[in-house]
Amino acid sequence: MLFLSTTVHGLEDIAAREIEKFGARILELKTGKVIYEGNEELIYRLNYGAKRIFRIAVILSMGKIKELEDTRKFVQEADFCINTTFAVRTKRRGEHDFTSMDVNAVVGEEILKKCPKAKVNLDNPNLTFLCWVDNENFIFTIDTTGESLHRRGYRIYQHPAPINPVLASLMLKFAGWNGEKMVDPFCGSGTIPIEAYHNYNRVPNKFRTFNFPKLPFFDEALWNGIKEEMDKSERNKRLELYCVEKFKKHVNGCKLNAKNAGARFSCLQGDAENMHKFVDYAPFIITNPPFGLRIGSKKKIFKLYEEFAKELEEHFSGAILTLIIPYKKFENYFEVLEKRDIMYGELQTKIYRFKI
Ligand SMILES: C[S@@+](CC[C@H](N)C(=O)[O-])C[C@H]1O[C@@H](n2cnc3c(N)ncnc32)[C@H](O)[C@@H]1O
Repeated sequence: MLFLSTTVHGLEDIAAREIEKFGARILELKTGKVIYEGNEELIYRLNYGAKRIFRIAVILSMGKIKELEDTRKFVQEADFCINTTFAVRTKRRGEHDFTSMDVNAVVGEEILKKCPKAKVNLDNPNLTFLCWVDNENFIFTIDTTGESLHRRGYRIYQHPAPINPVLASLMLKFAGWNGEKMVDPFCGSGTIPIEAYHNYNRVPNKFRTFNFPKLPFFDEALWNGIKEEMDKSERNKRLELYCVEKFKKHVNGCKLNAKNAGARFSCLQGDAENMHKFVDYAPFIITNPPFGLRIGSKKKIFKLYEEFAKELEEHFSGAILTLIIPYKKFENYFEVLEKRDIMYGELQTKIYRFKI
């Protein structure tokens, strides 16, 4: 079987390594996508266990197109049959004389010809076909995930600027963290330490549901066996994870989220500029500081960065600092070990690994 998973653009290689660990053979990395092959177990294993991808889609057919009408043959040659409600959604990159909606309409029409018992339902379909048009390349897939995997289902407190949990998990790997003492000094609602706890303890994506039970080739016995095996391998090791956050409201929210996620760590109210007063030296600092875009002004934010950098220099020398930040500011303070340009939603930003 061939698969396509989406992930954060700029960190595809890190996502691919995770997919590989679940037993897949990686074929290609594309912009924000990983193409791989493996058996159908991957549908269940990845949806339930993967932390660094947004979704798992089964590739039904793929190839080159010159014009809109060429998409029809990919539906015709694909080996599938459905007799339930469906929708087609298309992501398009490049210059074309047709829109994503045009692809949805043409592909939808062909699916109806192929599967006369199927019915279009754009609002609440049982199955979703995802088409990817990337210049002249066309990939026709069926989704297995449903709501994106970044919707973990454990967040009950909604921070105004939370980090995407998939990105948080990618950052942990990028940082080289593997269970060591770690601090998030701008922790907000606690996504980074929650993901750290879940990643290390192999906590599956058990706070949500998936779309694969609605697939025509869903194998319930196989899924139940895999779920049981993965549930058994979950650990509950207490880690030295520390959260520091300035505002009481977010500290309380962080505690609520951590409890709901079954993640055990300390959330402390404090100031990152005086972090050593709340947490002793830690070899890993992994964080998502305010950018000054949504919260506070840029001048104030740059002052905060300066004070935070001084604090790190004085009390955390030798540690690894991993940051997501849209500015180069920290390059003035610390040695850059690695830097990646990433797309975070619509925002072009960077993740850095520094040596303090
Ligand atoms: C971008 S948010 C972090 C969001 C977090 N990663 C999450 O997923 O919820 C930055 C956080 O830093 C906090 N903050 C701002 N200045 C701070 C300071 N001096 N010390 C500690 N926290 C601070 C803000 O209140 C905000 O919650």
